[in-house]
Amino acid sequence: MEQYVIKGGIPLVGEVEIGGAKNAALAILSAAIMTDETVIIDNLPDVRDINVMLDAIAGIGAMVERVNKSTVKINGSTISDLSVDYEYIKKIRASYYLLGALLGKYKHAEVPLPGGCNIGSRPIDQHLKGFRALGASVNIIHGAIVARAENLRGNHIFLDVVSVGATINIMMTASLAPGRTIIENAAREPHVVDVANFLNSMGANIKGAGTDVIRIKGVERLHRTEYSIIPDQIEAGTFLFAAAATRGDVTVKNVIPKHLEATTAKLEEIGCDVEEYDDAVRVRAGRKLHRTHVKTLPYPGYPTDMQPQIAVTLTLAEGTSIVTESIFENRFKYADELSRMGASIKVEGNSAIIDGVKKLTGARVCAPDLRAGAALVIAGLSAEGFTIIDDIMYIQRGYENFEEKLRSLGAEIEKVSSEKEIQKFKLRVG
Ligand code: UD1
Repeated sequence: MEQYVIKGGIPLVGEVEIGGAKNAALAILSAAIMTDETVIIDNLPDVRDINVMLDAIAGIGAMVERVNKSTVKINGSTISDLSVDYEYIKKIRASYYLLGALLGKYKHAEVPLPGGCNIGSRPIDQHLKGFRALGASVNIIHGAIVARAENLRGNHIFLDVVSVGATINIMMTASLAPGRTIIENAAREPHVVDVANFLNSMGANIKGAGTDVIRIKGVERLHRTEYSIIPDQIEAGTFLFAAAATRGDVTVKNVIPKHLEATTAKLEEIGCDVEEYDDAVRVRAGRKLHRTHVKTLPYPGYPTDMQPQIAVTLTLAEGTSIVTESIFENRFKYADELSRMGASIKVEGNSAIIDGVKKLTGARVCAPDLRAGAALVIAGLSAEGFTIIDDIMYIQRGYENFEEKLRSLGAEIEKVSSEKEIQKFKLRVG
């Protein structure tokens, strides 16, 4: 079992290149099978979730050729199986995007129903409501969603909750559904826009992505394209909070500063200097961090995927902060781990009340999920002494070369897989 071992207390300083957005890539890879022509996708992050998605796509018979670490060629003309294996959905919920993609292209798709996950129960009723509105019959049979349509047709769909996944899934199917579709109360996240841009580059007719009303005119077929995925705002934000928590000075490069605004506004509020460039953001932490309150919301609000990272930083800020999670029910699992590192954090309902402490101390902790795992790395980097993080496979789902990028900023962190390697690391860094 791999672990991270960290010697904390070193301010992170320097520049770091941000990779492609995992969550945009997961949807774009699925949408790539919607044409029989070859699609080339670039700026793909080389992370576990993406590799599983590529396997899922190959698993239904599409041609997948990894040109290099960040580029892939996909050809969906050889698809022979419209039923996605449970093995993939177990590993990544987002393989449900194949439902929207296959239903649009073949009018038939079968994908196992994803269960809950570490951050809570995650219904997909809005996705299914959308497919039904587009003319599909949708049934749950032996644990799988079976969607079929004689004929798809555009429709007016009002989402009951703002859902990134439902917006994207419906947008994919509707791209090939004759007539006009209007999605109201649509999610506005940057990756919704990226998927719409990608589909449009394949010949789809989608307008309004990035607002809460998306209008789609169904087209007959989609065609080849070459497309580069947007930078990952969550990876970028994670490094910026790591800079703040370690009292460092970090520039994230290859980012879209606009996508980071909710995060950078909070960094300024807690006393950091933020400088924005065309495609970079620099954060310099002051000696003191100030308390703040934050509530997660759909974009352009503060992202739930950045909630654990700000919470860790606030454990080291002067005063009492309140972090409220309004998107997922179970996203404070890291709080007990942080308490073991000396943080004062108490969870009440969907809020965490944090009383800032002067320092954290290293401990052995366990990553409960992807973003909380990354947040525990930030805690380890800012803590006194050694921190060992178990279950880092969660972190590897979404961060490419995480430890290497952190080392390039001066961090002492290593991926290890035995007690002996931990001892060796401790001897080396002293
Ligand atoms: C996506 C992201 C995830 C991020 C989340 C919120 C991907 C692969 N994952 O997840 O990292 O944390 O957006 O920004 O892009 N809901 C329903 N019914 C539905 C769908 C959603 O009730 O049919 C609820 C969810 O339980 C949640 C809220 O809506 O409370 C938002 O979920 P959603 O935006 O769909 O998240 P995901 O697309 O699953």
